[in-house]
Amino acid sequence: MSGPLLLEARDLRVDYPLPARGLRRATNVTVLQQVSLTLADGQSLAVVGESGSGKSTLARALLRLLPLAAGQVLLRGEDLAILTAAELRQRRRDLQMVFQDPYASLDPAMTVAEILSQPLRVFAPELSAAQRLDRCAAALHEVGLQPAHLQRYAHQFSGGQAQRIGVARALIAGPAVLICDEPVSALDLPIRLQVLQLLAAQREQRGLALLFIAHDLAAVRYLCERTLVLFAGRVMEQGPTASLFAHPRHPYTRTLLAASLRADPQAAKAAAAQRRALAPAAAVPAGQSAVAGCAWAPRCHLAQAQCWQQQPVLRQVGDVQVACHRAGELA
Ligand SMILES: Nc1ncnc2c1ncn2[C@@H]1O[C@H](COP(=O)(O)OP(=O)(O)OP(=O)(O)O)[C@@H](O)[C@H]1O
Ligand SMILES: [Mg+2]
Repeated sequence: MSGPLLLEARDLRVDYPLPARGLRRATNVTVLQQVSLTLADGQSLAVVGESGSGKSTLARALLRLLPLAAGQVLLRGEDLAILTAAELRQRRRDLQMVFQDPYASLDPAMTVAEILSQPLRVFAPELSAAQRLDRCAAALHEVGLQPAHLQRYAHQFSGGQAQRIGVARALIAGPAVLICDEPVSALDLPIRLQVLQLLAAQREQRGLALLFIAHDLAAVRYLCERTLVLFAGRVMEQGPTASLFAHPRHPYTRTLLAASLRADPQAAKAAAAQRRALAPAAAVPAGQSAVAGCAWAPRCHLAQAQCWQQQPVLRQVGDVQVACHRAGELA
């Protein structure tokens, strides 16, 4: 179930500075390009893609934790770039984040009570110290921990418990959007499921919108209605999770799914059938590089001259959007 548009990214571009080294001058490297997405109230969107594809950069760009080289981030229709620092701090109440490594994201010198009080001091300054402590205890209870845990430090918890504290910290000020950057990948398998169930329950209860960055595609299926596939900083494909997984249109999405589903015999069968639908690898045309064309072309079995020369733009194919010149031809 989803409501009005909450978060929107329009044609984001992010460059990182590349310092001078040896004979090379200092320059910029573009790691995110023309990335657009929308998230409605209560909606869940997964961002998937291999390591280095730009997922964390996208999360940081949405939170305005790094500068945009181009594009806009709109929260409830308001461009975050035109806000003062104080206004931006207030809007962050609506946009909270859960990080991959719970220990690294929790200050080791602070008790849980101090960690959970921080957002309340900023976003609910009217609360007395006693009221804040009550809110911290309630937040811990919601994530399955006890009030007695308030006086402990992060290193005194298991990984799963520490991540529950990370979730409590993100939720305590009542955000509308939760951005989770691989929130369970540092956890043991059985604990992963518990934390995913916690996120699903909190999302349901609070009507939260969720942007969920993950490598684990089973978790994506479990949590997210829509999925966006990133490769080399560009959107390759996006659409409803169910149809994107059942019938991936982009050759990269097919490769990603095939790689992640190898452990599951039934899924492996489906993936093998999909791979058979791919033609033999295209030879690299002399003198071509993928810079002008599709970033996936060097690894794509379907690449032809156009793919090397022309950047594919997102277009509607069935109920997904896909950036591939040959997407419509795939079985
Ligand atoms: N501070 C930085 N300075 C320069 N380059 C960076 C910086 N942070 C990330 N990068 C580069 O930007 C690209 C995208 O990185 P990012 O961390 O967003 O990828 P990711 O998809 O989150 O990967 P992973 O799945 O491993 O977390 C990578 O090529 C990375 O090397
Ligand atoms: Mg990352």
